Amino acid sequence: MRPTTITLRATTPADDRALHALWAVAFPDAPELPLLHARDAGRYDRTLVAVADDGAIHAVVHWQPRPIRNAAGGVDVVGCVGSVASAPQARGQGHIRRLLAVAIDDMTRHGCAWSLMFSGTPGVYTGSGWETFPAARLRGVAGPGSASGDAAVRPARPGDVARMAAVHAIVNANRPLTTVRSADDWAHRFPHWYAPPVRVSVTDDGDYVVVRPDTGEVVEMACAPTRPYALSALLRAAVCELGGPGTVVTLDVPIDARLTREIGRLLTDVSTGSTCFGLARPIQSDRARVRATVTAPGAVHWLGDAF
Ligand SMILES: CC(C)(COP(=O)(O)OP(=O)(O)OC[C@H]1O[C@@H](n2cnc3c(N)ncnc32)[C@H](O)[C@@H]1OP(=O)(O)O)[C@@H](O)C(=O)NCCC(=O)NCCS
Repeated sequence: MRPTTITLRATTPADDRALHALWAVAFPDAPELPLLHARDAGRYDRTLVAVADDGAIHAVVHWQPRPIRNAAGGVDVVGCVGSVASAPQARGQGHIRRLLAVAIDDMTRHGCAWSLMFSGTPGVYTGSGWETFPAARLRGVAGPGSASGDAAVRPARPGDVARMAAVHAIVNANRPLTTVRSADDWAHRFPHWYAPPVRVSVTDDGDYVVVRPDTGEVVEMACAPTRPYALSALLRAAVCELGGPGTVVTLDVPIDARLTREIGRLLTDVSTGSTCFGLARPIQSDRARVRATVTAPGAVHWLGDAF
């Protein structure tokens, strides 16, 4: 049999059906992935595929430029890579490695400072120049103080978004690794990632906390510095929502002295650790500058900005 020739190319709308089928096999737990992909207006040029002679798509890599704050107080254009998959029968043949090389060329031409992605299998990317970086987390067991929530904190409604966006902008104004959220992100990306079972709770002022009851995690939080009293209310509501006394709670949020003090009133056996799902790669920026951003104190990439 004649060996298959593989062509690497960008996609067209005619590829949508085959792409969705490939993602359905590679990501059976994320059936909503095509919806998010469809929100990237420039997706066809930036969705790169390895295609066989017979037209079958064997592998795919998608990247998109996103505005992400750096450690120097500015905003970088960052090539965010996601939806990486190859067909089960086509794995181990270097398709992804070659597609990543094309993506790097495209990101360079586009003027990206660096590239970001999140993965549970970093080994797929380290050979192509991405390096893992740690994200701090805090874990403890909920004590009796979390048996009830707080009257000031309630489930968020669509009418809360403008106030939440304002608080988010203040809290993250100088925070490295955070995305500069657009109105479109608030309207579509934020509710995409924080759809049930994830819960968003808010105060009337727009201070908010986001929890994942399925994993016991606090995944995002924003509390205006002028309302420090709201922090304890948000934390108590969050720990209560996650199950209350006896529940193991994990906070994937920047850990500072104020948070440590407040959480110490709610959790026992508190410990800090880190995860290493994030990977960064210099594109036009140099390695030290990228590293300074992704490892800066207080740096965080909120789940709601995933891509
Ligand atoms: C992960 C996946 C995309 C790899 O695809 P692939 O076609 O086998 O990738 P390639 O053959 O191009 O290999 C690229 C690199 O990944 C490495 N690799 C492949 N599978 C790996 C795995 N499961 N764990 C660690 N490294 C892996 C290869 O050794 C190679 O390393 P190198 O560049 O240093 O030589 C594929 O297994 C897949 O679609 N899995 C299901 C979906 C998924 O997990 N996607 C990634 C989400 S972040």
